[in-house]
Amino acid sequence: MVLKDKHIVLGITGSIAAYKAASLARLLIKAGAEVQIVITPSGKEFITPVTLSALTGKPVVSEFFTANDGTWHSHVDLGQWADLMLIAPATAATLAKMANGIADNMLITSYLSMKAPVIIAPAMDLDMFAHPSTTQNIELLRSYGNIVVEPAAGELASRLTGKGRMEEPEKIMAVVENFFTRQGSLSKKKVLITAGPTYERIDPVRFIGNYSSGKMGFALAEECARRGAEVTLVTGPVSLKTNHPGITRIDVESAAEMYNVSIKAFLSMDAAILCAAVADFRPAEQYAEKVKRSGDMLNISLVPNKDIAASLGKMKKANQLLVGFALETNDEETNALKKIIKKNLDFIVLNSLNDAGAGFKYETNKITILNRNGERKDFALKTKKEVASDIIDETFP
Ligand code: PMT
Repeated sequence: MVLKDKHIVLGITGSIAAYKAASLARLLIKAGAEVQIVITPSGKEFITPVTLSALTGKPVVSEFFTANDGTWHSHVDLGQWADLMLIAPATAATLAKMANGIADNMLITSYLSMKAPVIIAPAMDLDMFAHPSTTQNIELLRSYGNIVVEPAAGELASRLTGKGRMEEPEKIMAVVENFFTRQGSLSKKKVLITAGPTYERIDPVRFIGNYSSGKMGFALAEECARRGAEVTLVTGPVSLKTNHPGITRIDVESAAEMYNVSIKAFLSMDAAILCAAVADFRPAEQYAEKVKRSGDMLNISLVPNKDIAASLGKMKKANQLLVGFALETNDEETNALKKIIKKNLDFIVLNSLNDAGAGFKYETNKITILNRNGERKDFALKTKKEVASDIIDETFP
């Protein structure tokens, strides 16, 4: 039993999906876990503590004190006791409070005191889920190292159809089991990850750049750290945040800066996964002052940047792994295979701008992994977090 003797705090909030939390509690217990439920006051409007305590064999915790005898329920003790906190369903309000540290109920104080990793399964109406504030809160929670089980699309309690319904208990269970199976599997490993775009300066106000958001690279860094690796994340300019203690983040701007930091860091690494969209060229001249508009054409000459992947490929020792990405628009496989050889990579992750939902900026990606023997593995369109997990499984089988 994967969850044998694992202590799980199951947080339940005020959503119609709270009824699914009962099945989830049962699945966790059947898999060997000891489950302590913490429910918000509005959660109790949707499912009764009696049902839940009957399933777990433990009184449900909801208030800071038991009203009749004044017993204090220690959120700090729960934080120490748990091997995992699972919040399912998590409403938009709870996500917002978690993201911003608004500790006004037992569930949020337990979350803030939590020493263990946290998995969150949001549930809400489609428009609430699509709202920029929810998107931002989920991004913040991910950056704190929390794992988010994306809601599914389908018919919602409101009778509207869209993305927002809590994922089914069996699927959440698979994430929990997966979590415990892989946890710590990369301890003692050191991994270098490059992410984001590079900016190649033209003058003090302009640059040549690209559309990389950093999402794919950050997902890789977070997944490696979650599995226990010591991660060095070298990132170009992005708006993403990282707070996982296993990640050392180094911000750079240009390809030259990324090159210098990566070459130095790689010496002590077990593996490098190069996800950054590095500019191949930079302006030959950088103007000290803003270039003024004139009637004439402005020509900017470009000179090539050093290839970080190819340089690491030359330095690579037998015990080091080097993984590259290929972002292609045509002749995808041929171009990717050439890059494996040219850069001396162990394998390459191909993503094509011809696939809907793949590549820059999206929350999703669709990849093919190609190795030096020409073997290929195709993957379905998945969230970048899931894609990161597939890539790391391939890097450290
Ligand atoms: O950041 P997101 O918005 O989430 O988007 C993710 C992504 C599309 C940027 C990512 O999945 C991806 O494909 N990254 C590589 C993009 C790229 O520049 O590919 P390339 O085919 O030009 O480069 C091949 C490999 O060489 C890459 O591993 C690249 O990091 C590396 N390279 C390229 C040029 C250079 N000067 N140095 C390098 O190390």
